[in-house]
Amino acid sequence: MRLGLLTGGGDCPGLNAVIRAAVRGGTTRNGHQFVGFRDGWLGVLEDRAMSLDLAAVRGILPRGGTILGSSGTNPMSLSDGPQLVRAALARNDLDGLIVIGGEGTLGAAADLLAHDIPVIGVPKTIDNDLPGTDLTVGFRTAAQVATDAVDRLHSTAESHDRVMLVEVMGRQAGWIALEAALGGGADLLLVPEVSFDLDDVCLHLRHRHMTTASFSIVVVAEGATPVHGTLEIPPYPLDENGFPRLGGISNVLAPEIARRTGYETRVTILGHVQRGGSPVAFDRVLGTRFGLAAVALANAGAFGRMVSLSGQEVIDVDLMEAKGPRKVVPMNRYRDAEVFFG
Ligand code: F6P
Repeated sequence: MRLGLLTGGGDCPGLNAVIRAAVRGGTTRNGHQFVGFRDGWLGVLEDRAMSLDLAAVRGILPRGGTILGSSGTNPMSLSDGPQLVRAALARNDLDGLIVIGGEGTLGAAADLLAHDIPVIGVPKTIDNDLPGTDLTVGFRTAAQVATDAVDRLHSTAESHDRVMLVEVMGRQAGWIALEAALGGGADLLLVPEVSFDLDDVCLHLRHRHMTTASFSIVVVAEGATPVHGTLEIPPYPLDENGFPRLGGISNVLAPEIARRTGYETRVTILGHVQRGGSPVAFDRVLGTRFGLAAVALANAGAFGRMVSLSGQEVIDVDLMEAKGPRKVVPMNRYRDAEVFFG
């Protein structure tokens, strides 16, 4: 069998583990051959193919990012996108494509099924908001980075009696924020799932500073939103696909918190630090299991499926599930974090 591989959307730790496992497993167990497409779907459309043999994947397990490169290109945005994808498969004599991506990349893969293009999905995103899987590759590393940051920021918060806002990624789901708040012992958590009223936030901080402590750590997901009409957030710039490029809400909140409470307030925006560097062991192992499972699906001719983590088990689900409703933080998980506010 000859299989193509691509990584699309934002890079994340653990992508190379998936690539390595697919190539190692497929080559040594089944004698398959692999072709990598550079820069996500863009590389398929423009046929930027490279041979992926055992030598090409040697030493990449602990490396962040993706040796294939990535992009947010969506082949379905072109009227002849499906034909171009089919032509790339034919030119490279491929039996199918293993697509490693999040919502956008896997959504396109699911749409291509209707054009008889044989694809298998592998879910990744640090946001962990992709439906159809308990966890996505990259999330655990991002959550660890965010937790470490909360730990480190405690020193300055305590030494200087400050309110520290720690802004983490998470466009429409607060998984990283939740994990960092619980793991790092934050005093307040703002997530996209629960709109906040800054008056309540300040009330909470004042109460804490008058009763328990002289500092506070607030974890803010970049996609947190104020209750409608309570606070003006300037519009975000748009990315190449027309989606708002988030990041920076804490810079709006901090001066307001300082003004309303009188507490010195500082901001740390973690940004792409959360997506960079070496994956934690969990993501290396999850990526490895997903890569092996994706090849097993190809062996079985099970195109149109996505590998998935259910509890401790790697299973597979309909790839269409990647287009389902976003997996957000359930209210009971948020309520658990609330126990530790204050
Ligand atoms: O979806 C993953 C993610 O890391 C989001 O949390 C974040 O808003 C976005 O990607 C940033 O994308 P970019 O790297 O294009 O700025």
